[in-house]
Amino acid sequence: MIDTNIELPKSYSEIKTDSERISFSMPSDLQTGSLLRTLVATKKEGRFLELGTGTGLSLAWMVEGMSENSNLISIDNAAEYQNIAKKYFQESNVSFVCEDAEKWILNYKEEKFDLIFADAWPGKYVVLNETLNLLNSGGIYLIDDMLPQPNWPQNHDKNVEILIQNLEERKDIQLTKICWSTGLILITKK
Ligand SMILES: C[S@@+](CC[C@H](N)C(=O)[O-])C[C@H]1O[C@@H](n2cnc3c(N)ncnc32)[C@H](O)[C@@H]1O
Repeated sequence: MIDTNIELPKSYSEIKTDSERISFSMPSDLQTGSLLRTLVATKKEGRFLELGTGTGLSLAWMVEGMSENSNLISIDNAAEYQNIAKKYFQESNVSFVCEDAEKWILNYKEEKFDLIFADAWPGKYVVLNETLNLLNSGGIYLIDDMLPQPNWPQNHDKNVEILIQNLEERKDIQLTKICWSTGLILITKK
């Protein structure tokens, strides 16, 4: 089996070019993107949350997998990055929030989500509990970059170790560690 012959989503190449132009260096990889596309397609009227829009590369996969009756909110605190994503995704069921995701998570009181892709510091290394509380029962939580990456800051391995330990201790989730792509943890809420 070859898992690198992945069909790219619409607009991916254009977003990549725009990202390279501003030296955006934190995209999720193609395998993670492909998995996201598959996972969002499991929920026909799903509510999805992306923490860390970046320039919209992971979002491109999610939007392609989404049904028209699903909704997605994508959050980033860097307008320079998120503005690129906004240019490509103007669908009415995709909304953008440009603010600190930690504050947003703590203030959010509306409907819970069926899938959360946590790709920023908040939702992973801070406000983890609060983020998992935003998941519906049966909902999916996905994180990447759990295996050592060249762009990790110094001593980041300790943060990852603590995060994995915290997740493994929880009794309200089912968890699978996947040593594939950049190292994924796939969780479903009981
Ligand atoms: C790993 S990148 C996201 C990459 C994106 N998912 C993709 O695949 O292209 C992390 C993003 O989180 C954003 N970020 C960092 N801290 C944040 C915060 N406190 N609140 C919201 N966004 C934050 C950064 O601006 C950056 O765009």
